[in-house]
Amino acid sequence: MNVCVIGTGYVGLVTGVCFSSLGHNVVCVDHDLDKINSLRCGVVPIYEPGLKELMNKSTKANNLIFTTDLEEGMNEATIILIAVGTPANKDGSANLTYIKRVALEIGQYVRPGMTIVTKSTVPVGTNKKIKQWVSFSSGHQQFSIASCPEFLREGNAIKDTLEMERAVFGVEDVQAELALRALHKPINPTIIVTTIETAETAKYAANAFLATKISFINEVANVCESVGADVEALARVMGLDHRIGTSFLKAGVGYGGSCFPKDTQAFIRIAAEANYHLQIVPAVERVNHEQRYRLLAKLKKSCPILAGKRIAILGLAFKPHTDDMRAAPALDIIQALLSEQSSTIAYDPVASDQAKRLLPDVVLASSWQEAVKEADAVLILTDWAEFKSIDLEELKVLMRDSVVIDGRNLFHPEEMKQQGFYYDSVGRAQVDGRLSQKKEAPSPSLTAQTGTH
Ligand code: UDX
Repeated sequence: MNVCVIGTGYVGLVTGVCFSSLGHNVVCVDHDLDKINSLRCGVVPIYEPGLKELMNKSTKANNLIFTTDLEEGMNEATIILIAVGTPANKDGSANLTYIKRVALEIGQYVRPGMTIVTKSTVPVGTNKKIKQWVSFSSGHQQFSIASCPEFLREGNAIKDTLEMERAVFGVEDVQAELALRALHKPINPTIIVTTIETAETAKYAANAFLATKISFINEVANVCESVGADVEALARVMGLDHRIGTSFLKAGVGYGGSCFPKDTQAFIRIAAEANYHLQIVPAVERVNHEQRYRLLAKLKKSCPILAGKRIAILGLAFKPHTDDMRAAPALDIIQALLSEQSSTIAYDPVASDQAKRLLPDVVLASSWQEAVKEADAVLILTDWAEFKSIDLEELKVLMRDSVVIDGRNLFHPEEMKQQGFYYDSVGRAQVDGRLSQKKEAPSPSLTAQTGTH
């Protein structure tokens, strides 16, 4: 099948690369010439495991071409996938500027029989608007439109696309359904054919529900801390009920990223515009926001005055396996630390370049060891495997004071206590092994004195 993908951001690039790897002929179009030139040279502008290798395989096989010329991109195509950004406006609504521009441009080259599919997350009713915009500039309506929302996760994008569990085809006619079926044939997912409005709403509902699970378990974690329960064991008890499910019950510092914060906000607005005032989703957002500051409160319990203290941050990306820092908890937490005049030094295995741009005032370390050296406290904000395998003895020797505040529950409180750390995490017991270690290990001079008596 000949496919044109418009937009080479996260969704567009992954979609183009994956469908080309399945044997479709894909042309990826973007108006950013620098980006297209680097893609042509095999340079991937985002950090996504496996993407570069798959992309280079497809370009070598001539299944994947990059261009800035939409006419060239649409020349042979029967299906056009729109994957341009829909950033949030200040009021939380989705900004459709790019979508509109692209729709008007598509109208110049659209031919009868083509199907135009929106992969971007757009408010309900947008696909109908796309139909109007394309028809306005083409002067005809001999094409179909469809909504096929994307559910991929960053860091897992290739697997989520090539092995997608389900695909939603929101279509207006059989032509669009058949085109989408042909496109997805090599993947063979469970297909749900719906109206366009249902597909558009499904994406928001799915993301809002996942965000709800996270805020729910974070609230439960906060209760656990007060009643002496352990959220990790509790989440397992809950999750093994298949009606609840084990995933997205990991308590922590809250969600970030390019989807949940933006989509929950947009969903609240979409509902309000349709005269329904959502009650659960705004609470989910509030809990998520407060969760970040609870971690700071934990730090202040052991370190009441932050001014002049050296605080090491481990993890900047909103989650592991990505360099994405959009709406990452680290952004708010580091700003708060800096505003209290603490000396903050941060390390992330891959997000340093993003951090230089987003947090120009923060000092960046090139290893976790460099970050924690002489630190009064360490804050763990991303659950990178590298942090989980930190040698605790080495950590203790490097730090000035052994305070670890773990926003991702990477370590066990009991082990941290035995190793002599002050350790606070999320939804579990707070422990302080510093005192007991001092008591248990008498100083060499005392031992010597005892020996002489
Ligand atoms: C999400 C959806 O999963 C995906 O289907 C949608 O298309 C886009 O949004 P993504 O933003 O890439 O994907 O990340 P995801 O893996 O879902 O994690 C989102 C955030 O939730 C991260 O900050 C993560 O740390 C946090 N999270 C996730 C938790 O705090 N606890 C959990 O149990 C799961």
